[in-house]
Amino acid sequence: MEITSPKSEDGAAVHDLVAACPPLDTNSLYMNLIQTTHFAQTCALAREDGEVIAWVSGHIPPEEPDTFFLWQVAVGEKARGKRLPKKLIADIFSRPACKNVRYLKTTITPDNDASWGLFRSVARWLGAPLKDELFFDKERHFKGRHDSEVLVTIGPFDLPPSG
Ligand SMILES: CC(C)(COP(=O)(O)OP(=O)(O)OC[C@H]1O[C@@H](n2cnc3c(N)ncnc32)[C@H](O)[C@@H]1OP(=O)(O)O)[C@@H](O)C(=O)NCCC(=O)NCCS
Repeated sequence: MEITSPKSEDGAAVHDLVAACPPLDTNSLYMNLIQTTHFAQTCALAREDGEVIAWVSGHIPPEEPDTFFLWQVAVGEKARGKRLPKKLIADIFSRPACKNVRYLKTTITPDNDASWGLFRSVARWLGAPLKDELFFDKERHFKGRHDSEVLVTIGPFDLPPSG
């Protein structure tokens, strides 16, 4: 198994993995291609026998240089339970692009138990508090088309040792 930043040729496999991991929203393949090019330094994938088995996408918001905003994490069903999300996040944190990162933010829908379990575990790993607040509201922002998204902030923390 290898963990790397993505290349543009990985965009289609990333798109397929996200589609195979409900309840994640799929995005356009073009958007995944942009992630694997412009945002490659803040995304990571795990590959086994040539297949993309796990994916973390994110970016550093322009106004928040100390924050890694994690957009999506997807682990193929067969690869779950092996701590791959933390390994991918650790790989991203080890890169020069993240040298000023002290906070991890992400959004979670209230009913996504796997995601809440994962990010509570990430907060313990980073030794930092976790707080949550409403970010995008079901009615105000999604006009009833999607559940509310809760903003989870973990930090401040010191970057974990890489490797
Ligand atoms: C969420 C997901 C990425 C977790 O992957 P994973 O490989 O099982 O995660 P890990 O092995 O690293 O487990 C991390 C923690 O999450 C917890 N967890 C994982 N799945 C869980 C579930 N279904 N319910 C509750 N907790 C869960 C684990 O118990 C572990 O906690 P611990 O460290 O206290 O033991 C994976 O289930 C997935 O891809 N789901 C579909 C997509 C999704 O919902 N993504 C998150 C939203 S962005």
